[in-house]
Amino acid sequence: MKNKNLISLTVSIAFFILASTGILLYVKQKAHFIEMTHTIFGMLFISFAVFHIMNNWDSIKAYSKDRKTGSIKKELVVASLITGIILVLSVTEVLEPIAEFGKIFASGDKRPSTINFAEKKTQDSTSGQPVVLLIQKNKGASSSSLSVEVADTTGKVLETLVAPEKEMKGPPANLLLQTKIASPVPFDIIFTFSQEGKTSKVSRRVKTMDSGVQGLAKEDGLIERAYLDVQ
Ligand code: HEM
Repeated sequence: MKNKNLISLTVSIAFFILASTGILLYVKQKAHFIEMTHTIFGMLFISFAVFHIMNNWDSIKAYSKDRKTGSIKKELVVASLITGIILVLSVTEVLEPIAEFGKIFASGDKRPSTINFAEKKTQDSTSGQPVVLLIQKNKGASSSSLSVEVADTTGKVLETLVAPEKEMKGPPANLLLQTKIASPVPFDIIFTFSQEGKTSKVSRRVKTMDSGVQGLAKEDGLIERAYLDVQ
């Protein structure tokens, strides 16, 4: 077995793995095992590349200097110029857009997402039972305006907790509603979503007004989650 050939082959295979993991890192595929494999093969590559360069030092010298006259060859000048210019442009961060271009392949925004809730207080002067109603709209319904009513089980509206908004300022938010409900259980809370003249209604039956939090929503395309907190 020839050591020189073994080193050349190892350097080639290590380079292939190093380049593959390097490209994955460039496109922000930064799973820990990819970073680790890249670093380990980087070390293996460097260790073997040193011997590879030593084994081929005579060739490198021959490419760089004329053996008879001892003068520097054009190829060495051009290679030094190319790498020198790129080194200066890298250190001065001029090439940052190229180094960071792989970001466009990164999946999603890693910042925690935020949601807005408009805080409203209604029925302040009524004698009903204080409740807090939290409604997070589904993505598809996020720009709808919302009204909330209480109806008996036959559908007759007994109370209006939130009237339809006539004029909306800014993006319509989810709702954190502090209100009072005077109707006896069981009753339905009716949510009316309106958007560009279209209205959709969903209702949730409330069977108990014992104090505590109860979930109101099942997935229906309009409400992501809703909770009634009876105080
Ligand atoms: C084919 C050659 C190589 C390519 C294409 C390459 C590419 C990359 C890229 C794109 C990154 C991610 C940079 C970032 O966004 O933060 C990276 C990270 C890194 N590279 Fe390389 N690289 C190569 C060779 C090497 C070599 C020879 C070493 C020597 C050990 C090395 C060691 C590292 C280390 C330690 C990191 C940081 C990994 C981490 O985040 O834990 N790379 N490389």
